[in-house]
Amino acid sequence: MKSITTSFSPQLYALHANPDAIVVVVDVLRATSAICTAMHHGVERMIPVASLEEAFNYKKKGYLVAAERDAVKQDGVDFGNSPFHFMSPELEGKTIAISTTNGTQAIQAAKDAKHIVIGSFLNLNSLATWLEAQEKEVVILCAGWKNRFNLEDSLFAGALANALIKNGAFETSCDSTIAMGHLFQLASHDLYAFLENSSHRKRLKNLNLEKDIRYCLQYSIMDTIPVVENGSIVRLKVHQKLSLNNA
Ligand code: MLT
Repeated sequence: MKSITTSFSPQLYALHANPDAIVVVVDVLRATSAICTAMHHGVERMIPVASLEEAFNYKKKGYLVAAERDAVKQDGVDFGNSPFHFMSPELEGKTIAISTTNGTQAIQAAKDAKHIVIGSFLNLNSLATWLEAQEKEVVILCAGWKNRFNLEDSLFAGALANALIKNGAFETSCDSTIAMGHLFQLASHDLYAFLENSSHRKRLKNLNLEKDIRYCLQYSIMDTIPVVENGSIVRLKVHQKLSLNNA
């Protein structure tokens, strides 16, 4: 049996790091939902960078750049972090550098892992199916909020763990994963309502971004699985085996 563990924040990740596991990075609201959406709509490559300085350096070099802090798009770049910024057919085949408050920090925290994939509720089913086919343990890394626990990423961990365990190839004795599996069962029929008082839902609501929240909380509307290869995010080819990745 393969194991699943959950890190509730990038700061806790060192406690869960497993050199040979697949790390699923998740930032439901909104970075990894935006990345899944961009890849699904044909963006060829995204370069995740932790600092705004690195993002602006990419801008100077002529790249398209997405940058957000505290959910607000930064001046002087092309996009913020709304999934709706990445749906244009004009972005097909393009490369975009991206820096976000938590999501790209989480990718950075996992940088030494051999295998990193990007999860969201949007690609939940295809991700679970693909993980089942790999001979690897799974670490779910929640981006959280500034290294704190957040509800939506942790609920995603519960959703993914439940899906993997239900199908028999995975087990867990990680208390974070067990707890979130139970909580997801309570929340799953209406994630939007369940998250009503949560910090980032409120933050986004105050910025009139309700539409983004509703979009990001949809289940399995795409098959696309983004994967980190040599520091860049690209689309995983569905039958791609991990030996082809950045080992
Ligand atoms: C992040 O990376 O922290 C977020 O995606 C923030 C946001 O909603 O833009």
